[in-house]
Amino acid sequence: GPRESDKLHDLAKVTKDISPDHRLTTDYGVKQTTHDDWLKVASSDKTGPLLLEDPLGREKIMRFDHERIPERVVHARGSGAFGKFKLLEPIPELTMAGVLTDTSRETPVFVRFSTVLGSRGSADTVRDVRGFATKFYTKEGNWDIVGNNIPVFFIQDAIKFPDVIHAGKPEPHNEVPQAQSAHNNFWDFQFNHTEATHMFMWTMSDRAIPRSFRMMQGFGVNTFTLINSKGERHFAKFHWTPELGVHSLVWDEALKISGQDPDFHRKDLWEAIANGVYPKWKFGIQVIPEADENKFDFDILDATKVWPEDLVPVRYIGEMELNRNPDEFFTQVEQIAFCTSHVVPGIGFSDDPLLQGRNFSYFDTQISRLGVNFQELPINRPVCPVMNFNRDGALRHTITRGTVNYWPNRYGAVPPATLDEGGYLEYAERVAGIKARMRSAKFKDHFSQAQLFYNSLSPIEKAHLTNALAFELDHCEDPLVYSRMAQRLADIDFSLAKEVHSRIGGDPPSETNRRPNHGKKAPNLSQFDFPPSNPTIASRRV
Ligand code: HEM
Repeated sequence: GPRESDKLHDLAKVTKDISPDHRLTTDYGVKQTTHDDWLKVASSDKTGPLLLEDPLGREKIMRFDHERIPERVVHARGSGAFGKFKLLEPIPELTMAGVLTDTSRETPVFVRFSTVLGSRGSADTVRDVRGFATKFYTKEGNWDIVGNNIPVFFIQDAIKFPDVIHAGKPEPHNEVPQAQSAHNNFWDFQFNHTEATHMFMWTMSDRAIPRSFRMMQGFGVNTFTLINSKGERHFAKFHWTPELGVHSLVWDEALKISGQDPDFHRKDLWEAIANGVYPKWKFGIQVIPEADENKFDFDILDATKVWPEDLVPVRYIGEMELNRNPDEFFTQVEQIAFCTSHVVPGIGFSDDPLLQGRNFSYFDTQISRLGVNFQELPINRPVCPVMNFNRDGALRHTITRGTVNYWPNRYGAVPPATLDEGGYLEYAERVAGIKARMRSAKFKDHFSQAQLFYNSLSPIEKAHLTNALAFELDHCEDPLVYSRMAQRLADIDFSLAKEVHSRIGGDPPSETNRRPNHGKKAPNLSQFDFPPSNPTIASRRV
């Protein structure tokens, strides 16, 4: 039965089912006698001009004229579903978050999967990063993990985000080509930003052409923190691991499917859920105690680095199942608004300079995409009570009764919550320094983990990656761009650089000054090295 914490129960209050019992009305509720004819000047056998006075005709056309809202500036193409999160192993020693300590709860979730660079109508199976964004409707408010299917990112500092996205989106003069095929600007950016090297290796790997949304990992990417009831803090990374295992298309399939069935991933998710084959993910955490922050040869706040699992194992503590398709795409999948800044007591941020910028960006972009009252939309509204003196703004529809809208007031109305009542407490982090535009010293190593990733791949994955690099670089017209990239690959592996160069031409990579490959590997960076999926479930594919 419906419970107070159940998002579906909450949505039911604003959900209407169409039925033959309903009669056509205007938006102001007056019944109408036609769907079909505009009010006109008419004689017995002929009609004249349409009358502007017709409220039905005008309403129908004007509502239609304004149906489109701006698509997301990135991740415009996506699909989503409802589901539930179940905690299996409570972690009160790490966090006081109810969603991660109370095993009796079933927390409703909505997940949106997406490509990054294509527009809303673009194809599903292009080579691109996939978004994996989860909204947990917890009893203490919404918690969003706005992640990707690749554990690292192109840039270290949020101020680079407009640059990396501009370079990947269609070129400004002619809007050609659609981002995902390689082109001069994309690779020019990669060359000029050595920090992107690790990430472009992932995006040229099979990870960037997933077989299904149901067969992808999800990663929070950025470093978050967990705070326990004693006020102790740990650094944390969040992981989703699919029960079906991680699978990819091969490039030839991806190309053909893009043309023949551009909705391939959207349909796959929809049909699996409609047929009761609910996709599931294990939820895992990697945790580093605050005292160990500086014990690694990489900076744990650098989003271009993984925390290798042989150093920091993943601990699986929960499970998510997606079990219900949306009722209406626009009001749910399109209007859902994720923000990295949505965290609940017991979960906090870190000084990761990418995360810090994201915390500003999502809220800001939702204001132009959906309007300042976006959190009031049914899909975004928390399932717990919301009360404050924020007010007005376009499309405000919550009605707050009372005669004061400020604090403190003579009634003592809307006092802040105490900690016992669940008030959010910012961690008292000690911060000292000068104002400066800089990055921490360990952020400057841009190649070690790119090499770690390459070395960890199986031979067939290396072959696919080599093919992908050759294919994408071959689409650059500018010899400067592709020649320099072959040289860059020599910093990862010289035989890789030579092989790619042999296929694309340009200046040969030079062996002098290249970075040697010491052959270091890490577990679980290869898809084939991945913990095997449950075979009985894998065979239940639709
Ligand atoms: C959208 C992930 C970095 C700005 C998204 C979405 C995902 C995502 C999954 C789609 C959300 C949805 O389905 O509605 C990530 C990850 C990042 C990253 C994993 C790196 C760790 C950034 C950075 C910025 C940024 C650095 C800006 C400084 C945006 C914006 C949107 C977006 C503006 C559109 C939001 C909307 O209109 O709803 N991101 N992103 N992202 N991201 Fe990021």
